[in-house]
Amino acid sequence: LQDGPLRGKRVLVTSGPTHEPIDPVRYIANRSSGAQGTAIAQALRDLGAEVVFVTGPATEPWPQGVLVVEVETAKQMHEAVMSALPVEVGIFAAAVADWRVDGVSDSKIKKTKDGLPSLAFTENPDILAEVSQLKKGRPQLVVGFAAETDDVIAHATAKRKRKGCDWIMANDVSPETGIMGGSENAVVLISDQGAEEWPRMGKLDVAKRLASRVAEALK
Ligand code: C5P
Repeated sequence: LQDGPLRGKRVLVTSGPTHEPIDPVRYIANRSSGAQGTAIAQALRDLGAEVVFVTGPATEPWPQGVLVVEVETAKQMHEAVMSALPVEVGIFAAAVADWRVDGVSDSKIKKTKDGLPSLAFTENPDILAEVSQLKKGRPQLVVGFAAETDDVIAHATAKRKRKGCDWIMANDVSPETGIMGGSENAVVLISDQGAEEWPRMGKLDVAKRLASRVAEALK
């Protein structure tokens, strides 16, 4: 562990997409690369934190010097997060699938002449909301992300209330921004103090700035 203002603090970071199986060979996923979550884990580690990094199947290489817990589905991520508690800080950067397929087939779904398959969905646990609303053992600071395509501040402010987290890192993921899967991010930090717009910067710089804000908040 490195020396720094977060020395002795245990921090949980979720990152990456989740994969929700359809059958043994197919799944539903999203475009998250895990880049922002990975950068956050590294920045927190560099300030001395003990980082538990719960990651879905991301394309970004795992960060060094942190405890990596690999999961595939939202349900597995939920279990891994609950087992990692208690922590002083929870940062939920994963792009968790909102739904999973209900009745995953044990065998590969076959192409037939009598019609197309249809999928039914069921809701996944909302990990951020559950941890934010814990009566016992809630982290001191809970940070969520909001990927929006319109009315970023209004939607993210409502999301912060709904989930019960302390901060929301909101960003615009409209395809023309190139943020999802790209190396830059443009973030608005929503807290009980209102909305603070950060200039567009590299995901590493966003991570460093967030980590130093976390250290300040814990002082
Ligand atoms: O509701 P929405 O998916 O937009 O919220 C995004 C935030 O909630 C992110 O911080 C994400 O990691 C978290 N989340 C979660 N569990 C879910 C869905 C989202 O932790 N099932």
